[in-house]
Amino acid sequence: MRKAIIFGLVVAALFLIACTTQINSRPLSEGEKLFRSKCASCHRLPDPVSRDAKQWEDVLAKHEKRARLTPEAKRLILTHLQGAEN
Ligand code: HEC
Repeated sequence: MRKAIIFGLVVAALFLIACTTQINSRPLSEGEKLFRSKCASCHRLPDPVSRDAKQWEDVLAKHEKRARLTPEAKRLILTHLQGAEN
């Protein structure tokens, strides 16, 4: 009987831990995943807030060939950098 109660408490605790971790580690958007995988190979990842929307367009236009971005990847990364996805 006592074992059952302890088991129940452990399960409840694990459940709570699982829930809070889920909240803290929000899933990455496609754009953020691409940004992290494509933009850190030649230099450090730039900070998304370091430039405005227009500047990011210019940066990505310049990088399209250089970083071999597909039009879709370019669009997703741009959306992420402009902070427009959430
Ligand atoms: C193939 C190598 C390479 C990859 C991959 C790459 N970069 Fe660059 N990046 C460079 C080089 C070289 C420079 C410096 C020359 C320049 O300013 O164009 C640069 C400069 C920059 C700058 C500063 C220049 C400016 O105009 O403000 C930013 C911001 C930047 N990169 C963002 C990115 C982003 C975002 C990605 C992912 C899409 C990326 N880079 C991927 C090579 C790369």
